[in-house]
Amino acid sequence: MSQNVRVLAAQCCYDVVDSGQSMAEALPRAQAKLTNDLDKALLQEICFGVMRYLPQLESATSQLMAKPLVKQLRPLQFLLYVGIYQLKFMRIPDHAAISETVEAARSLKGQSLTKLINAVLRNVQRHPNIFDFEDAPEAVKFNHPGWIISLLQQAYPEQWQDILLANQQKAPLWLRVNRNNISATDFSAALTAENIEHQQPITAMPTAIMLKQAQDVTQLPGYDLGWFSVQDAAAQYAAILLDVKNDQHILDACCAPGGKTSHILELAPQAQVTALDKEPKRLARVHENLARLGLTAKVIAADAAEPSTWWQGQLFDRILLDVPCSATGVIRRHPDIRWLRKKADIPVLAAIQQQILQQCWSLLAPGGTLLYATCSVLPAENQQQIVAFLEQHTDASLKTIPYQPDPSTVGWQILPNEQQLDGFYYALLVKNSKE
Ligand SMILES: C[S@@+](CC[C@H](N)C(=O)[O-])C[C@H]1O[C@@H](n2cnc3c(N)ncnc32)[C@H](O)[C@@H]1O
Repeated sequence: MSQNVRVLAAQCCYDVVDSGQSMAEALPRAQAKLTNDLDKALLQEICFGVMRYLPQLESATSQLMAKPLVKQLRPLQFLLYVGIYQLKFMRIPDHAAISETVEAARSLKGQSLTKLINAVLRNVQRHPNIFDFEDAPEAVKFNHPGWIISLLQQAYPEQWQDILLANQQKAPLWLRVNRNNISATDFSAALTAENIEHQQPITAMPTAIMLKQAQDVTQLPGYDLGWFSVQDAAAQYAAILLDVKNDQHILDACCAPGGKTSHILELAPQAQVTALDKEPKRLARVHENLARLGLTAKVIAADAAEPSTWWQGQLFDRILLDVPCSATGVIRRHPDIRWLRKKADIPVLAAIQQQILQQCWSLLAPGGTLLYATCSVLPAENQQQIVAFLEQHTDASLKTIPYQPDPSTVGWQILPNEQQLDGFYYALLVKNSKE
């Protein structure tokens, strides 16, 4: 039997914020308990919304309750946020939002709290000024943890507020047309034939298609035929910048779930591609994606920072390092990231990134190109990494990326929502040929 959406939403938010699970794990598990697609979409909308506005929901609740619900009652505290989010940010009629939330409290063993929950929600309805956060502390006003705000203020004195506001937006759905199977023009025509509104807003990349509405992509034309993949357009630059060719040996050192591996192979189907990831479980998705698109790579579960355990002696002409990172560039797409990441994670990630970069550099052929990529907006994971690397490697040169607005910057930093893209960073390094 299908379960109550509000109950599942409260549990998911609790699993993420209090238990440290990612929404990418918690949400599909909860959605599997629902039979109706509209309910599944509603669950996602509520969970993402609570993640986006958590500090304001906490602040509003604290103004209306003497103390928060704790211990075994914590899921009911999240249920309050679920109720308030619906009242403030969704077009659900107030009476339905309140009665459904109170009903959900009973399922969460909160029979004795239904009066309290009802009273809090009615007070939110009656006192809209509770949601006036103009003069609130920055963490509440901008709905981000203070440490992220501070790092953005240091790195982007002019743009930090825009970045925080961009992170509150819903990300569009981007597709990448597999031009081996269909042209971008024909795919666009197939979408139009089914009244699916879309755009091709990037002149340099007509295979990047943006859909106006979120969709079940498996229902779009040509999904089973491998006509397209889901991939943000910022990520679609990777294979293009790498300038891959059919006669090359190519390493994709952090490949799962395989979005960029498959793009590389779409552009150079005859290339010898080695696709590596440290997480064997995540490689299942790589195999699935390659199979659906009809592509072949040598897929290995291994640590990119320890080539002695997997490298077979053939230098690579191209290397893609899409390294593990803070994902601070994709908060609009994964709003829970801001609560899962901790400040102490950044130096740990930076050390792993530098190790992967140093180790894989030795596998690059003279004259070859390495593309370093992150979905981070933090200089410690981006420009600072490349500057430190260049200081230690006289055989490396930084190549300007044709799309970077200022050729003097170290690499290309795309900020979230710039041209509707995810936040991303790219640096192209070329290995000097021996004289
Ligand atoms: C940003 S994701 C890669 C996304 C992928 N390139 C795509 O476009 O679909 C980073 C990946 O690096 C993997 N990873 C982390 N540390 C690694 C290491 N030391 N060696 C190889 N892979 C690693 C993670 O398991 C994760 O799948």
